[in-house]
Amino acid sequence: MPAPISLDDHEAHARNVLDDKAWAYFAGGAADERCLAANRHAWNAPHLQPRVLRPLAGGHTRVELLGRTLAHPILLAPVAYQRMAHPDGELASAIAASAQEAGFVLSTQASLPLETVAQAVRHDAGRGPLWMQLYLQHDAGFNRELVQRAEAAGYEALVLTVDAPCHGARDRERRAGFRLPPGISAVNLASLPPRPERALRPGQSALFDDLLAATPTWDDIARLQADTRLPLILKGILHPDDARQAARLQVGGLIVSNHGGRTLDAAPPTADCLPRIADTLQGSLPLLVDGGIRRGTDVLKALALGASAVLVGRPYIFGLANAGAQGVAHVIRLLRDELEIAMALCGVATLTDLPDDLLI
Ligand code: FNR
Ligand code: LAC
Repeated sequence: MPAPISLDDHEAHARNVLDDKAWAYFAGGAADERCLAANRHAWNAPHLQPRVLRPLAGGHTRVELLGRTLAHPILLAPVAYQRMAHPDGELASAIAASAQEAGFVLSTQASLPLETVAQAVRHDAGRGPLWMQLYLQHDAGFNRELVQRAEAAGYEALVLTVDAPCHGARDRERRAGFRLPPGISAVNLASLPPRPERALRPGQSALFDDLLAATPTWDDIARLQADTRLPLILKGILHPDDARQAARLQVGGLIVSNHGGRTLDAAPPTADCLPRIADTLQGSLPLLVDGGIRRGTDVLKALALGASAVLVGRPYIFGLANAGAQGVAHVIRLLRDELEIAMALCGVATLTDLPDDLLI
C-alpha cells in the first residue's frame, strides 16, 4: 500500500494493521453508525470562500486558549486503551503531540499510568496543552484521589465527559465479539473499589436503578470545581441550554461533541450544533468541537463556526497503529499543513477575526 498522504489514507492503512476486534472498537460507532457518518458529512456542507490577491506575509495558525498561545488549534481527543493500537500506546501519542505542538487529552481509561505519560512530555518546550479527561466513578474518595494525581502529575485542565453515562448500543463491537485483550486495562482505575450492586425490586431497571443511580448531575460540577484548582472543561455538550448552564457554573470551557458517534446514534452532527452554541455563549467561554474532522478545511470551517480549537480522535489512533509516534506526528502534520493551505487560499493570514463571509 502506498504511503499515506491524508487522514483517510491512514484509516485505510490501519484497517490492514489492526485485528478485527480492535478495528471494531476504534473505528466503530453506536448502532447503525448514522451519527458517525453524519459527523463527517456535516463538515462538507459549508463551502469556504476563496479570496485572491490578499497580503499573506506573516501569516500563522496561532490561537489563544485558556490563557495560552498555541502554535495551532489542533488537540488530540481522549481515546481509551491505546496500547491496543500500538505497544507504545498513549506515550507515543503524547510525545507526537508534543513534537507537533498539539494539545493532548489523556483518557481516564488510558492503558498507561497518567504519571508516565505526563512525565514524558510535561517539560517539553513548545508543547501544546496537557489535559486529563475524567469519567466520574461511583466512589467520591477515588474521584478526589484521581483529580489529585492529575494535578500532581502536571495536567493543566480537567475534561469531564458528560455525554456517556452509559455506552451506546455498540452493535459493531458486539458483532466482532470485542473484549479487551489480556494485558490491556484501564490502569488508572486499578484501585477503584468494586461498585456495590443495588438489589433491584421487581419492576426496577438494571440501567436506571442500578448502573445509573449514582451518575453525576449538574450538582456534582460545583463539587468537582471545589476539589480542584484546575479549570474544568465539559465535553459532550450539544444543547444551547446545557451550554448556558455550564457558563453559569463558570466552567473553564466546553467541547461540542457527540463522542464521535459512539453514544446516541440519533444525535445531530457536531458541525450543526456548534453555531447555535457559539451564538449562545457569545465568546464568554472557550469553545472546542470534535467529531468527523479529517481535513484542514474542516478545521478552518470549525473556527469560522465559532470554535477556538478542535480535537481529533480516530485519525491519530490510525496513525498510531500504522507507525507509532511517527504515525501520530504525521497525522497532526498533515492537518496543520492542510489548514495553512486552506487559510492561504481563502486569503486569511491569521485565525483571529476570521471574515464573516468565509463560509458559504
Ligand atoms: C473515544 N472517545 C472518548 N472520549 C472520552 O471522553 N473518553 C474516552 O475514554 C474516549 N474513548 C474513546 C475511544 C475511542 C476508540 C474513540 C473513537 C473515541 C471520544 C473522543 O474523545 C472524541 O470525542 C471522538 O473520537 C471525536 O470524533 P472523531 O475525531 O473520532 O471522529
Ligand atoms: C469509548 C469510551 C471509553 O467511547 O469513552 O469507548
